[in-house]
Amino acid sequence: MAIMIWNQSYSVGVTELDEQHKSLIRMINEMHYAMNEDKGQEAISTIVEQMFGYMEGHFTTEEGYMQQLGYLGLQAHQREHEEFRAKALDLRNRVNRGEFVLSFEVVQFLSDWLQNHIMVTDMKYTSLFAEKGLR
Ligand SMILES: [Fe+2]
Ligand SMILES: [Fe+2]
Repeated sequence: MAIMIWNQSYSVGVTELDEQHKSLIRMINEMHYAMNEDKGQEAISTIVEQMFGYMEGHFTTEEGYMQQLGYLGLQAHQREHEEFRAKALDLRNRVNRGEFVLSFEVVQFLSDWLQNHIMVTDMKYTSLFAEKGLR
């Protein structure tokens, strides 16, 4: 069972960014699945690594557009990405040191964070992006 499902209400109106959000949701669901199926620590650590790498790429893409289009909320948005990066880095280090066992709470945290970030923070750039013709 998926922990998170993309629907049209998540759309930020830009195909590339929507596709990235869909991929992130898919990876969170894969983590959830790996945890439920009791896949080994190695499989879990691979998925965690993949997901955080992809998240990093997504943040860079979004921040690039915000900069390019002169979005006034760039700094506040970057700060939110930064807070997540710090948390992700800590998790990743713990996974790599073998100290960390993926729990439902962690998957739930990621899913809640992403949902809230898309719905509240990402949504704030949508009118400017649309106005500037980014699709
Ligand atoms: Fe985003
Ligand atoms: Fe964002």
